[in-house]
Amino acid sequence: MALYSEKVMDHFRHPRNVGIIEDADGVGEVGNPVCGDIMKIYLKIKDDIIEDVKFETFGCGSAIASSSMATEMIKGKPVSEALSLTNKAVTEALDGLPAHKLHCSVLAEEAIKKAMKDYYDRNGIAYDPSLFPVFEDCDHCHVH
Ligand code: FES
Repeated sequence: MALYSEKVMDHFRHPRNVGIIEDADGVGEVGNPVCGDIMKIYLKIKDDIIEDVKFETFGCGSAIASSSMATEMIKGKPVSEALSLTNKAVTEALDGLPAHKLHCSVLAEEAIKKAMKDYYDRNGIAYDPSLFPVFEDCDHCHVH
């Protein structure tokens, strides 16, 4: 079996939603200190709907494919779906990632959550802090 699924290769070669949103309502940037890869997500939100989402990823192919798939999964959806998106769901939608590449998909989940937190902070919207763990301390950052 090939190391990467066709979906991963497709999203890596033709990533969807690449770019920036100048007047974004929320921006989230996360980095993986181990590999040095960085992912930035921009959200445009109106009436609790993710109207638009774009990403910039300076990272490996799995991180690019994960960002592309994750943005596709939340675009046009209620913010609640962005908040509940897991790296597991992204990985499944990509028909899997090799075990040593799973942490790359975690970046996508975290960047989206961080952008949502930014949106809430900017608008003074109250939220449950447990929705947003302290990203810098999470275990996967130490996975090679
Ligand atoms: Fe760094 Fe994939 S995100 S190796």
